[in-house]
Amino acid sequence: MEKHISIDLKNSADFISWEEVIALALQSVRHLDALNSGTGAGNDFLGWLSLPEDIQVQLDEIKKRARHLRSVSDTTVVIGIGGSYLGSRAVTEALSHSFAPLLKSSQHQMLFAGQNICEDYISDLTDILDDRNYSVIVISKSGTTTEPAIAFRIIKDHLERKVGKAKAADRIIAVTDSSRGALRSLAELNGYETFVIPDDVGGRYSVLSPVGLLPLAVAGMDIRKLVKGARDMELITRKNRNAENNPALLYAAARNLLLQTGRSVEVLVGFTPKLRYFSEWWKQLYGESEGKDGKGIFPASVEFTTDLHSLGQYIQEGQRILFETILLVNETEKKVTIPSEKDDSDQLNYLACKRLSEVNRSAGEGTILAHNDGNVPVMRINIPLLNEYYVGQLIYFFEIACALSGYILDVNPFDQPGVEAYKKNMFALLNKPGFEEEGKKLRARLK
Ligand code: PA5
Repeated sequence: MEKHISIDLKNSADFISWEEVIALALQSVRHLDALNSGTGAGNDFLGWLSLPEDIQVQLDEIKKRARHLRSVSDTTVVIGIGGSYLGSRAVTEALSHSFAPLLKSSQHQMLFAGQNICEDYISDLTDILDDRNYSVIVISKSGTTTEPAIAFRIIKDHLERKVGKAKAADRIIAVTDSSRGALRSLAELNGYETFVIPDDVGGRYSVLSPVGLLPLAVAGMDIRKLVKGARDMELITRKNRNAENNPALLYAAARNLLLQTGRSVEVLVGFTPKLRYFSEWWKQLYGESEGKDGKGIFPASVEFTTDLHSLGQYIQEGQRILFETILLVNETEKKVTIPSEKDDSDQLNYLACKRLSEVNRSAGEGTILAHNDGNVPVMRINIPLLNEYYVGQLIYFFEIACALSGYILDVNPFDQPGVEAYKKNMFALLNKPGFEEEGKKLRARLK
């Protein structure tokens, strides 16, 4: 089996030449240098670069705390939004049983909250929690984000009423800033165990910190293997100035060249529902990092073959504004073979004895060629197998490529000033103290 995920640009060659990709990748080595020397934009948020190494010393403690939650409960509610949510959800969904909540075995269940303000969602969740023996991991770097703060207030109240204040405190772990924010104060006041999100690691680059690793350890993932995968990808990308062999430089260069040819939408494609939340994590990473100053590639995602029966039509024949990045998983852990039927009444015997992964692979190859014929550039990312090790590689690969791509675009890939606009309006409309005047103006606009 291959040791690394790899990138294949041959299905983009009709749109951008290999020479052009190499030229831009070589030019972008200076951005790699800027990341390593901390001389580029957003240089106070580069802690994620060395997380695969730096986090090692915390892994035992993370695993110990995870074991504790698993021993006192059968379910953990992970509360967070954006970078404090998507990474752990992405890896959990990629590597867990597809029907985990329905398994009869006593597998620990992971539930998520704080990623929306939907009343029905939280009400349905507390219905389920009524009958569960549960713990809570609450994650917020700022410690002040409204969505998770509301969810935590509701779930903390539910848990305290269910098991009492002292037992609840033993089952709540907060992951937050070392000293600032309401969540830090709350944790200290109530005596919760805490993990710290390093100052120099921004939300969407934090999955390899306790933000992602604590929930993943509780979910039963091998976090050491995940970090090892990330570390191995760090070794082949971070200091690798040989552009041809650096997949992150190649990907960052290729997608920017495609943008320059008018392809302003990148569609991340998975051929398995297990990667659905990985795509959500990727969309946040690229959308928040690049979409600013009127620039950026719009990150979208589809799940094939499911969406070949919906958005596939647009991709094949709609406006030629997009390119695809296809995640192809070479091998599956489980094996299912299509049975043979004597009378072949459904005419599927030509597939008899074939594994589903073989059919899926042909669907993938066929799709790539069809989309190429439909004038869609395609990049392939080959993933040997979906396990902790390769998912760790994939995470670090996309993170470092995102930072490089942001520098190629000449934006700061580590801030997100645009996220504040809706918050300000929401606070004003809810009469948060200090926002009264703005509230009056907005209400007048809504009339
Ligand atoms: O990437 C980011 O910085 C954001 O998506 C944050 O993770 C998100 O807004 C949640 O912030 P916090 O962890 O402060 O609650």
